[in-house]
Amino acid sequence: MEIGIFGATGPAGRGLAARLAAVGHDVVVGSRDPERAKGIVEELRKRWGDRVATLRAAHNEEAAACEIVVIAVAWEAAADTAAAHAEALAGKTVVSMANGLEKIRNEFRAVMPDEGSVALAVQAAAPAAHVTAAFHHVPAAVFADLDSEMEDDITVVGDDDGARATVIELVSSIPGVRAFDGGSLNNSVGLEAFAAVLLTANLRHHGRGSVALRGIEP
Ligand SMILES: NC(=O)c1ccc[n+]([C@@H]2O[C@H](COP(=O)([O-])OP(=O)(O)OC[C@H]3O[C@@H](n4cnc5c(N)ncnc54)[C@H](OP(=O)(O)O)[C@@H]3O)[C@@H](O)[C@H]2O)c1
Repeated sequence: MEIGIFGATGPAGRGLAARLAAVGHDVVVGSRDPERAKGIVEELRKRWGDRVATLRAAHNEEAAACEIVVIAVAWEAAADTAAAHAEALAGKTVVSMANGLEKIRNEFRAVMPDEGSVALAVQAAAPAAHVTAAFHHVPAAVFADLDSEMEDDITVVGDDDGARATVIELVSSIPGVRAFDGGSLNNSVGLEAFAAVLLTANLRHHGRGSVALRGIEP
């Protein structure tokens, strides 16, 4: 199964791309500019060699043709990007990882679109896609450091049972990561909003904390 990532030239998408490739998945590193995607793949190959051999650079359009598509563009552009590729995304499993955030002095605050969350706005923009949301609370640097085994819990939400199960399986394929089913896409509101709390705590405590769910097993 090939995984396409829109905006994989940013820290989050490129980190996720490297981590998924290291597990053996075929990953299309997408960008609005294929040359920029090529540069990122070259950079990742230089750093990680054969561990990221399954990466391929392409325009977002090609990434949209994959079975699973992750939207890793800047959060303000997530819905518009989904709308631009809505036809190609129809029937596909789509993963929104966007957190709408603004920084006000020494705190982050959640910015929720009228639809309720960025993921819900993505679903409205690409109505025939099976939109899920995941990866909100994992810092890009954690994905990107392939020498460090991850130790993260990731909650996946989405309305389509099959798409949610597919993403849970994908997340679970990353060593050290536990995936949990967080219910329908409406619950993306909580995931996205909590990112503001987590980032603020990390800012104020000078840390890189993530989210762990205690007392349950995948
Ligand atoms: N950074 C993190 O630690 C982290 C953690 C969890 C979740 N997230 C979420 O993951 C997403 C990506 O984060 P990031 O820090 O990597 O973001 P970013 O660097 O700001 O942007 C990622 C990519 O988005 C594309 N982009 C920017 N503006 C665009 C526009 N107007 N239209 C279409 N594409 C556009 C660009 O790719 P091209 O120019 O190559 O097309 C850019 O490289 C965000 O939604 C963020 O909330 C980030």
